[in-house]
Amino acid sequence: MATSFFGGKNIVVIGSARGIGFELVRQLSEQGSQSILAIDRYESEDISKLVDSVDNVKFALADVRDNEALKVRFSSAESTDKKNAAGHIDLVDCLLCVSGVLGSPSPLLNRPSSEPNPSEDILNVFAINVLGTFNGIYAFQSKMPSGGKIMLMSSTMASLETATHSLNPAYSVAKAGVNMLGRKLAVELKDRDINVILMSPGVVRTEMNDGQGDISTQQSVEGILRELTRSGTSGTFLRYDGQGWPW
Ligand SMILES: NC(=O)c1ccc[n+]([C@@H]2O[C@H](COP(=O)([O-])OP(=O)(O)OC[C@H]3O[C@@H](n4cnc5c(N)ncnc54)[C@H](OP(=O)(O)O)[C@@H]3O)[C@@H](O)[C@H]2O)c1
Repeated sequence: MATSFFGGKNIVVIGSARGIGFELVRQLSEQGSQSILAIDRYESEDISKLVDSVDNVKFALADVRDNEALKVRFSSAESTDKKNAAGHIDLVDCLLCVSGVLGSPSPLLNRPSSEPNPSEDILNVFAINVLGTFNGIYAFQSKMPSGGKIMLMSSTMASLETATHSLNPAYSVAKAGVNMLGRKLAVELKDRDINVILMSPGVVRTEMNDGQGDISTQQSVEGILRELTRSGTSGTFLRYDGQGWPW
C-alpha cells in the first residue's frame, strides 16, 4: 500500500460535522496528520467529542454560502480557543471540500403539487454544492504550497454520459458544475503545482440518502484517501474504488 500523503500534513475539511466529511477527519486524525481544521455550519456531537479526544483536530463554524465571512474568518489572527479556533491556519497542504446537499429528487417538470417550481431548489443546491465549494477554495488557496492537493466532492450523478434518468436534477446539475469548477481550477493552479481532484465517494450510507447506500463511510473514506495519495494527475475524475468515471 502506498504511504499516505497525509501523515504530518496540515489539512482543512469543509463539511465535517457528519457523514463522509466527519469520517475523513476521523481517519486523517488517526493517520497522523499534523493538524486538521474541520469546518461546518453546525457542531455535531461526533465532531465535538473528536476535538476533545485528540490533539490534531480543531473545529470552526462557517456556512459555505457566506463567501465574505469565510474569507475574513480564515485570515483572522490566531485564537487560543481550541473549540472556536477562528480557523487560523498558516499552511494548508490539502483542502477537502465535502459540503453538499441533495435537494429534491423530483424531475424538473413532472413534479408533485407541493413542489410546483424547481427554481428555488436548483438555486439552493447550486449555492451550497458549487458556490460553497468555490468559496472554501477561495478562502484557503493562498495558503497552499507547491505540491498541495484540493479535492472537490463530486458524484457519479455529475456524469453527462451516464445521465439516463430524470431524478435529482438539481443535484446532477450542481455536481456537473462542481466538475467544471475543478477542471478550470486544475488549469489555473497548474503553475503553482497544486493538484485538483474530482472525487466520487461511491453510494455511501449517510443521512443524505437516509442510510440507503452500498458502503459505509469507513469504506468510502479508506478508498478516497488511498486514491488521493496515489493520484498525480490534476483535473481527473476519480471514484473511491480506483475506477475512473466518464464525464
Ligand atoms: N452519500 C453518498 O452516497 C454520496 C454520493 C456521492 C456524493 N456525495 C457527496 O459527498 C458529500 C458528503 O455527503 P454525505 O453523504 O456525507 O452527506 P451528509 O451526511 O448530508 O453531510 C453533508 C455535510 O455537508 C454539510 N453542509 C451542508 N450545507 C452546508 C453549508 N451551507 N455550509 C457548511 N456545511 C454544509 C452538512 O451540514 P448540515 O447538517 O448543516 O447540512 C453535513 O455536515 C456531499 O458533497 C455529497 O454530495 C455523497
